[in-house]
Amino acid sequence: MEFTVKSGNPEKQRTACLVLGVYESRRLTPAAEQFDSVCGGTLSNVLRRGDLEGKPGQSLLLFNVPEALCERVLLVGCGREREVDDRRFRQILAHAVAALNETGATEAMVYLTDLAVKGRDLHWKIRQIVEIAEEAQYRFDELKSKKDAPRRPLRKIIINISGRKELPDSEQAIREGAAIAAGMKLTKDLGNMPPNLCTPTWLAEQAQGLAGEFPALQVRILEEAEMEQMGMHALLAVSRGSAQPAKLIRLDYRQGPAAQKPYVLAGKGVTFDTGGISLKPGEAMDEMKYDMCGAASVLGTLRACAELQLPLNVTGLIAAVENMPGGRATRPGDIVTSLSGQTVEILNTDAEGRLILCDTLTYAERDEPAAVIDIATLTGACIIALGRHPHGLFSNHPPLTHALQGAAHTASDRVWELPLWEDYQEGLDSNFADMANIASHRDGGAIIAACFLSRFTKKFHWAHLDIAGTAWKTGKAKGATGRPVPLLTQYLLDRAAEVSREEGRIEK
Ligand code: BES
Ligand code: MN
Ligand code: ZN
Repeated sequence: MEFTVKSGNPEKQRTACLVLGVYESRRLTPAAEQFDSVCGGTLSNVLRRGDLEGKPGQSLLLFNVPEALCERVLLVGCGREREVDDRRFRQILAHAVAALNETGATEAMVYLTDLAVKGRDLHWKIRQIVEIAEEAQYRFDELKSKKDAPRRPLRKIIINISGRKELPDSEQAIREGAAIAAGMKLTKDLGNMPPNLCTPTWLAEQAQGLAGEFPALQVRILEEAEMEQMGMHALLAVSRGSAQPAKLIRLDYRQGPAAQKPYVLAGKGVTFDTGGISLKPGEAMDEMKYDMCGAASVLGTLRACAELQLPLNVTGLIAAVENMPGGRATRPGDIVTSLSGQTVEILNTDAEGRLILCDTLTYAERDEPAAVIDIATLTGACIIALGRHPHGLFSNHPPLTHALQGAAHTASDRVWELPLWEDYQEGLDSNFADMANIASHRDGGAIIAACFLSRFTKKFHWAHLDIAGTAWKTGKAKGATGRPVPLLTQYLLDRAAEVSREEGRIEK
């Protein structure tokens, strides 16, 4: 979809559809008020007759409004003026775009930037409009033989701004929103792909495709033989039962100052998690195709980063494996030596994410990273603890925690911190190896998993995002969400802003 910004009075717009807001109860927003006063009170008449209360979720389409140059007007309910927060704004926008898709208009001019959203500026509103509009258009119908595309899909949204002064920042907001939305789309497409097609080898090919599309990205695939030689026996233990070879995918984006240490994003890429010999129960097992969403979000974020040409050095690492039972599969009780040299007693082959990530994290040491963030659909326990709204956040470095909390707020892609206290570590004691891969109790499972990873991250600043509850939706609206691409991209945007500030300081 195409997005532009434009200033000007609503009645003067030659557009297929004007989108104006109505607060509850039956109160026009400033732009709607302006339009109404010029167009003979048409809107207030409609409201007076009781056709639109202004509740969120309501909308009304008007034709032939006198004195106006537009073909249609879509009035959108916005709820009570004082209650418009992030959540409400996003609901209003999602509803408006859905309603637009039901009209014959292929283009629309949206005036909902005049809503006052608590604590949010124009930049945020524009970015949200772009992200939500793209989200509403998203379909994964590649594998349907008959696709039900909308008759005349919405192709262009013009976003109103109040004056030329706001133009540069607004255009930047569109660029950011579009890059994030494209990154999310890539992440969703990869996540939704069925596990017979989305294998570690296929994921590696997708990374190569992305690097082909963006010359700033360099890709390297490490094969099993090389991983074996290095000593990544924890990672390789997971893919032993599978006919699909494991791949460690490495993407390098080097557009920052030569002296800048890289930011590393490490993604869990289990293309299907049966649990291995510790087989999962059958119910909803299909959803374990989403166990590579961490990996998909690394690709999506790198895509956004490359599209925005951020002046940073970023490395993406993806541990791609399939976790299957089989004659050669790892057994509960097996002990392996990780790349770090620490030995691990694998008591449950379903706790495989931490096994592939621990070797990937140790591998990241070689890059002397500025920070490492791993992203993983790691534990069902994280869903029990936090539900499906925030990502679980763990870190060994409080400033990194703060930076991620800040980015989460800016991007409206929420996180919630969970503790990494020493007290939990003893859960991982093993009688026969340096540690076990699970605790003997079920309490605090998300924390125990993070504690396991923390033993491999002593040499750098590290954060772990458990996205088990946020990477996809279950039930009728089943599908990947594209999260946490907004959070990660914002984190990198903030680092890029730091670089620019730094350069400014040096020049002065
Ligand atoms: N991929 C799963 C975690 C998961 C489960 C994410 C359900 C989303 C929904 C992970 O590999 C796993 O199986 N974790 C186990 C760990 C346990 C064996 C300690 C879990 O959460 O049950
Ligand atoms: Mn598992
Ligand atoms: Zn898993």
